[in-house]
Formats: sequence, C-alpha cells, structure tokens
Amino acid sequence: MNVCWSLIPVLVLFLIKEGKGLSTDLDDLRKEFGAWLLKRSPEYSTLIGVYKYNDRVEDFSYAKFLEEFDECKRFLQYLNNINYDQLTPEEKTDFDIFKDILTTVLKGYNWRDYSALNPVNILETPHTFLPHYVEITPFDTVGDYENYLNRMEAYPNEIDQMIIRFNKSIENGHTYHKVSVSRIPGSIDSILEGANNTNFFPYKPFLDKLTNLNTINDSRKTILRKRAETAVQTIIQKFRDLKSYLENVYFQHTRSGYGVRSWDNGGEFYKECLRWHLSLDLSPEEVHNMGLQEVERISSEMKKVLMKFNYQGSVKEFFDELKNNSAYYFQTADEIIKWYKNALKNEINPKLSTLFKDIPDLPVDVEADPAGGISGQYIPAPEDGSRPGKFLVNVKHPNKSLTINYMALLIHEANPGHHLQISIASTAKIPSYRKYMGGRFYNVPFEVPFYTAYIEGWALYAEFLGEEMNLYKTDYDLMGRYRSEIFSAARLVVDTGLHYFNWTRIQALQYMLNHTSADENMLATEIDRYITWPGQACAYKIGELKIKELRTKAQDQLGTKFDIKDFHSTILKDGALPLRILEKNVNLWIAETKNKPTETKEQCTSSSSFPDTNLKLFLIIYLTLKVKSWI
Ligand SMILES: *[C@@H]1O[C@H](CO)[C@@H](O)[C@H](O)[C@H]1NC(C)=O
Ligand SMILES: *[C@@H]1O[C@H](CO)[C@@H](O)[C@H](O)[C@H]1NC(C)=O
Ligand SMILES: *[C@@H]1O[C@H](CO)[C@@H](O)[C@H](O)[C@H]1NC(C)=O
Ligand SMILES: *[C@@H]1O[C@H](CO)[C@@H](O)[C@H](O)[C@H]1NC(C)=O
Ligand SMILES: *[C@@H]1O[C@H](CO)[C@@H](O)[C@H](O)[C@H]1NC(C)=O
Ligand SMILES: *[C@@H]1O[C@H](CO)[C@@H](O)[C@H](O)[C@H]1NC(C)=O
Ligand SMILES: *[C@@H]1O[C@H](CO)[C@@H](O)[C@H](O)[C@H]1NC(C)=O
Repeated sequence: MNVCWSLIPVLVLFLIKEGKGLSTDLDDLRKEFGAWLLKRSPEYSTLIGVYKYNDRVEDFSYAKFLEEFDECKRFLQYLNNINYDQLTPEEKTDFDIFKDILTTVLKGYNWRDYSALNPVNILETPHTFLPHYVEITPFDTVGDYENYLNRMEAYPNEIDQMIIRFNKSIENGHTYHKVSVSRIPGSIDSILEGANNTNFFPYKPFLDKLTNLNTINDSRKTILRKRAETAVQTIIQKFRDLKSYLENVYFQHTRSGYGVRSWDNGGEFYKECLRWHLSLDLSPEEVHNMGLQEVERISSEMKKVLMKFNYQGSVKEFFDELKNNSAYYFQTADEIIKWYKNALKNEINPKLSTLFKDIPDLPVDVEADPAGGISGQYIPAPEDGSRPGKFLVNVKHPNKSLTINYMALLIHEANPGHHLQISIASTAKIPSYRKYMGGRFYNVPFEVPFYTAYIEGWALYAEFLGEEMNLYKTDYDLMGRYRSEIFSAARLVVDTGLHYFNWTRIQALQYMLNHTSADENMLATEIDRYITWPGQACAYKIGELKIKELRTKAQDQLGTKFDIKDFHSTILKDGALPLRILEKNVNLWIAETKNKPTETKEQCTSSSSFPDTNLKLFLIIYLTLKVKSWI
C-alpha cells in the first residue's frame, strides 16, 4: 500500500499535463461559469467567504429571468464546441454535470411564471436570513462598512422587486396556498417588535464593533452611523410594507388547492419539479408507488421486530410506550455526547475499512449544538481546514431524545454518512463551480440545480449500511432506524399525493399519522413544507433507492468480480452529482470491471489523492440541514 501511495503524485501530475492542452476550453468555461454563479448571488458569495460583492444584493427583477436564460444558453453553446471524446474521464463527468446544469436551467425557463414568481415563503424568508448575513460580513475597515451600507441601502429595492414578482404571480394565477405564507406577517412582527433605527439587528455592527475600531476616526464614525440609521429606518419600513402587502393583497389571491395541480398545467409543472429535485426521470405515479412499496416493506420489517418482542400493539403504540420509559433516555447532555463519541470511535470507525478504501484521515467532532436546534446536524469543515467537520447534537432536552434513534442519526450525519461522503469529495479534484452550489427552492425548476438527492440519498444509504456493519446492536436500535426510514418513504406518497393526486392536507396528515410514529404537531409543519416545496421531500428516499438499485445491478452483472469497496469509491469519488450521471458512471464502471482479467491485484486509484482542498458545498448542506430540521 505504501508503494502505491508514493506513486500517486507522479501519476496525478502526468494526468494534469496530458489533459491540459485538450481541456483549456472546459477549464476556462467552468471558471467563468463559477464566477457568474457567484456574481448572481452576492449575499451567498458573502456566506461562503467571497467578499467581492459585499456591496450588492441579489437582483430580483423580472428582467433577470431572461438574462439568466441567455447567459446559460451562451455557456451551453461554448460547451457544445468542446470535443468530448478527447476529455479525461474526470473531465467527461464534469462536462456531463455542466451540461446537465445548463440544460436544466434552460428547460426551467419555460416555468419562470410559476413558483419562481413567489420569492418569499415560510421556509425562505428574507427577514430571518438577513441577521445571518450580518453575522458573517467582515467589519474591519472603512471599506467594509461602506460596502455594507451600500448593500443595506439597496435592500429595500430588493423587497420592492419581490412584491412586483408576487403581483405577477397573482396575474398568472400561480400563487401559493395560504399555508405557505400565512405565518410570515407574524414572524415579521416578531422581529420588528420594539425595533428602532439603532437597536434593530442590521445596525449592530455600528455599535461596539465600530466604537472599538481604531482605524477609523470619530468624525468618520459619526458619518457612517448617520447613514446607517437612515438605511435601517428604511429597511424597517420595507418589512412593514411587505407585511401589509401580504395581508392586504396577496392573501386575497392565494390558491385554493393545496397542490400545484390546481394551477393551469400544474401536473406538468410538478413533473418538472420532480425531475429537478430527483435528478432522474421518474413520473409522479412511479414515485408514489415506490413510496407505497417502501412504506409496506419497512412496516413489515417493524412488525417482524415487534413479533420477536411478542408485542401485541401497533408500531405507534410501541413507540408511544417507549417514549414514556425512562430506560430509553439519558439524563444529561454529557451522557449523550459521551455516547456519540464512543460509538463513533469504537463501534463505527473501526468497521469502515470493511466497506471503504482510501478513507481520508479527516476527523469529525461531536459537540452539543449551542442553538439547541434539531436532533442532529452535520457542519462540514471549512475550506482552509481550520477546524474539523462537526456533528452537532441537540442535547437541550435529554428526556425528549430517545436513545434508540441515536445510532441511525450518528451514521447519517457522521460516518459513513455525510462526513465520509463530504470528506472524500473534499479530497477530490472538483472544479469550483461545483463546490459553490446553492439556491432557492421556490425557483424550482428554474434554478441552477444542486444535488440533495445524491447527498441525502447517500446518508440514508449509509443508514442501511449500518445493518451490514452490525451497528444496530439491539432490535430497539433497528426500530429507531426504521422509524427514520419510513418517514422518508412516506414522504414520497404524501408529496405526490398532495401535488399530483389532489390530496387534501387532512388526507396527507392522516397518511403520515397512520404510517409513521411522529406526533401530529410536527407532522403539520412537515406537510406545510411539502405544500410549499413541491417534490423536494422526495429527493432523500429516491436517492437512496437509486444507489441501492445500482448496487444490485452491479452485483448481478459482476458476480465474483463485484467489489463493494470499489463500488463505493465509484459512487463517492466525484462528490455530489445528478443521479442520472451517477448511473452512467456506474454503468461505465461495470463495463470496465467486466472486461478486466479476473486476477485481482492491488490497485491505485488517484481519486482521493488530490490534496486540493474543497471549498465546501456549504449552502447546500446548510439548506439540506435546515430542511432536516423538521424531521
Ligand atoms: C401590486 O399590486 C397591488 C394591487 O393590484 C398594487 O396596489 C401595487 O401597487 C402593486 N405593487 C407593485 C410594486 O407593483
Ligand atoms: C431605540 O430603542 C432603545 C431601547 O431598545 C433605546 O435605548 C434607544 O434610545 C432607541 N433609539 C431611538 C433612536 O429611538
Ligand atoms: C477622518 O478620516 C477621513 C478619511 O477616512 C478623513 O477624510 C478626515 O479628514 C478625517 N478627519 C479627521 C478629523 O481627522
Ligand atoms: C405516556 O404518559 C402520558 C403522560 O404521563 C400519558 O398520558 C400516556 O397515556 C402515556 N402513554 C402510554 C402509551 O403509556
Ligand atoms: C423533562 O425535563 C424537564 C426539565 O429538564 C422537565 O421539566 C420535564 O418535566 C421532563 N419531562 C418528562 C416527561 O420527564
Ligand atoms: C386533480 O385535479 C386536476 C385539476 O383540478 C384534474 O385535472 C385531475 O384529473 C385530478 N386528478 C385526480 C387524480 O383526481
Ligand atoms: C388511515 O387509517 C385509517 C384507519 O385505518 C383509514 O381509514 C384511512 O383511510 C387511512 N388514511 C390514509 C390517508 O391512509
């Protein structure tokens, strides 16, 4: 193995040199595309530490739709001039992804007058995101302050643009159902409560922080503060305008049907949303039926376990009783963290090498989530590697956190779930435009895609691997795993039910209550989310099913030549991508492996050997994790 590793740098240099003359166009083009992505999302750029556009806000004008279309068309024309056959395998994958992104946006343009006209909903609110941007903006120089002031002064216009879009959605008859917006005025009220032009959050950097900055003189500080007060005053007024617009205008026009099928051509719109989120061509009927089958299969697994226990009641009753039993809880936060650390170090990590090779030596810390937050979430390591990846656990309410859920959650968020996948991606040579990915779900299908189906599909598949790794020590842990799995399966049924089969909210709630053991309040929030983001909740289970399907296919076709570690490397080596391209790559791998002589010798793959650190897919993770917060 040592010999192998030492050869890799030579091999890599050779590949880069070889490819260079041929791939200049692709290289240039993807750099330009990456730059364009950042420029079109100035706030997002700030979020990932690119400060070039800190003085701007995103353009929400309707004219921007056509600009985006034209720009993607131009990129596609250039891309199509590249000679595909002469690219390296990695470049071919990259070309495929690039093309997939561009054609997705161009196709999505046909749906620009649908959901994209509704830029604010309960899950994507400008006023709750803004405080976060204030936290991440640098304030070290007078230039930083001026950039920030320019951004604040541009912000009210952004809100006006949003209102214009909303008005267009009313004209087109493509508004949200009320559940997607009804809570917004209340949340605007709560952030505006007691707000004036010096105590409201956008003003915060002008308090102590500015006072303590000795590179700026006092008279300048006074000028900056005056400007800030005016800007904050205007922002407060704009939030009030948005609130009154929603209450007095938009709410009178919300759609009556829960699903998007109540829009003209809504069934076709929903199909496009599914294609966007799943990165696969599956019809609503197929997704619905896959959901029904999975719910059935997982239910019967759960019933088998209950039979072992000789338990007579229903699955829900079983969980309700467990919830009342203190034996299934820890008493303190420390005990919870200790359990996770120990399980990761002593139970999971030693077994990883049975299923994976070339595992990057990147640690993951287990920490209490200072915000309380959801049951658990994963925060990737920053680009500069200044700290490891983190698995944050909610320990605020030990007596609400059933220990039988712990193992599945740990596998999902840490290893071999998100942490392993992202660690491998971070050591791969991925062009930056694929690292900086993120966007807005309300724009779907007119949005640059990012790959929840792959990322969350992998993490769910990892939960399944936990069975093969014997990580679910007791049948109770296994029940915890099924409990999380059946939830993602039921989403397939309910999302398609609401948006394609005209289900009501009550029907959706009833189905979830019948088949998951979740409580009603939580489910109500969940269902409002499905109503707001058609198709999004289907990505998780479909991603997992696709990976399992590809594995079964590879096993069938390769027989004794099938190597699980190689299969996993094939899935993980390129980072997040559309499932249709993953499928293509696995098919290629199957064909190559078939043709290889049976005799196995030690192989070196260069896939994980690139030291090039990954500028993380921060927002995707950020978003998907936020999304998970309702699980
Ligand atoms: C939106 O529509 C309402 C009602 O038709 C109208 O009063 C308002 O001026 C419009 N707002 C904008 C920004 O176009
Ligand atoms: C804003 O409110 C704070 C109290 O929260 C108060 O101290 C301050 O004087 C107020 N500023 C203005 C400009 O009204
Ligand atoms: C304070 O700094 C500004 C430049 O930031 C400069 O123009 C101004 O003359 C300075 N004022 C005093 C009183 O030094
Ligand atoms: C659990 O405890 C609550 C309150 O202590 C009680 O109302 C409920 O019936 C119990 N549920 C079960 C299934 O034992
Ligand atoms: C859970 O713990 C909190 C305080 O930590 C306590 O107030 C509450 O009664 C406990 N609930 C149950 C069901 O034990
Ligand atoms: C759902 O409603 C749409 C339009 O309102 C209708 O065309 C469609 O046939 C309905 N589908 C089902 C399965 O009821
Ligand atoms: C939920 O279960 C009840 C009782 O078994 C049944 O009548 C109802 O049709 C089910 N609802 C859904 C949406 O599956």
